[in-house]
Amino acid sequence: MSEKPQTYPGVDRFYGRRKGHTLSQRQQGLMDDLLPKLSVDVSDIVPSNLDALALFSEAQTKVWLEIGFGKGEHMAWQAAHNPDVAFIGCEPYLNGIAGLLTHIDESDIDNIRIYGDDARHILTALPEASVDRLFLLHPDPWPKTRHAKRRFIGPKNLDEIARVLVDGGEFRVGTDHPVYREWTALQMAQREDFTWTAEIPSDWAKRPDDWPETRYEIKSLKEGRPATYFRFVRSSRSIDCRAG
Ligand SMILES: C[S@@+](CC[C@H](N)C(=O)[O-])C[C@H]1O[C@@H](n2cnc3c(N)ncnc32)[C@H](O)[C@@H]1O
Repeated sequence: MSEKPQTYPGVDRFYGRRKGHTLSQRQQGLMDDLLPKLSVDVSDIVPSNLDALALFSEAQTKVWLEIGFGKGEHMAWQAAHNPDVAFIGCEPYLNGIAGLLTHIDESDIDNIRIYGDDARHILTALPEASVDRLFLLHPDPWPKTRHAKRRFIGPKNLDEIARVLVDGGEFRVGTDHPVYREWTALQMAQREDFTWTAEIPSDWAKRPDDWPETRYEIKSLKEGRPATYFRFVRSSRSIDCRAG
């Protein structure tokens, strides 16, 4: 896999880190041998034409997507607890991919496929209403106002997320950053295609049982920044039509 980010029509450049410390021999072995078996390639896919379920066995009947899975501990947990789910994880950070491969290798998980680049390519490739759940956990906050365009949550990506989610599909966002928390709440409040499910503070302040902690979450909690757990539900498309 190239260490340079790919370019993709209609997708601005990616801001982030591709590689950190040198991989251990075991990690490099997994990158060489296991990753090619699990990699998703969308370079030749016509937009909206990726048949995600075809990448899995018949046991998997619905698609979940995680954007920026870091070292993959959340996705590995979800995949192990939801064997009927076809899980696609997107992460351009090579050390993160190596971390996920270690979880997969140690737990015999067979329902994860990996896209080792910018998640926006996968969003473009997926058909309308083809994803049941989407996770964006502790995205890079880019807290300075002049960097706001780099935040993953923004009108263009939200349009794509709304397009690929099924009616009633869930969009989970976790963040420990006060700027990103407010940004997410404001961006999502402007959308008619999503409803925020929270009714009382514990709905967003308390981690749901089926939402395991991520590495960033544990780190930020230790530093005194508890997370917010946003759960948005994709509105029914018939309601979109009436609104339009
Ligand atoms: C702050 S880390 C959080 C990692 C993990 N979700 C966690 O909570 O521990 C953000 C991750 O998002 C990844 N990322 C940033 N932009 C991305 C993009 N456009 N597509 C996929 N992943 C992206 C980064 O490489 C990084 O690993």
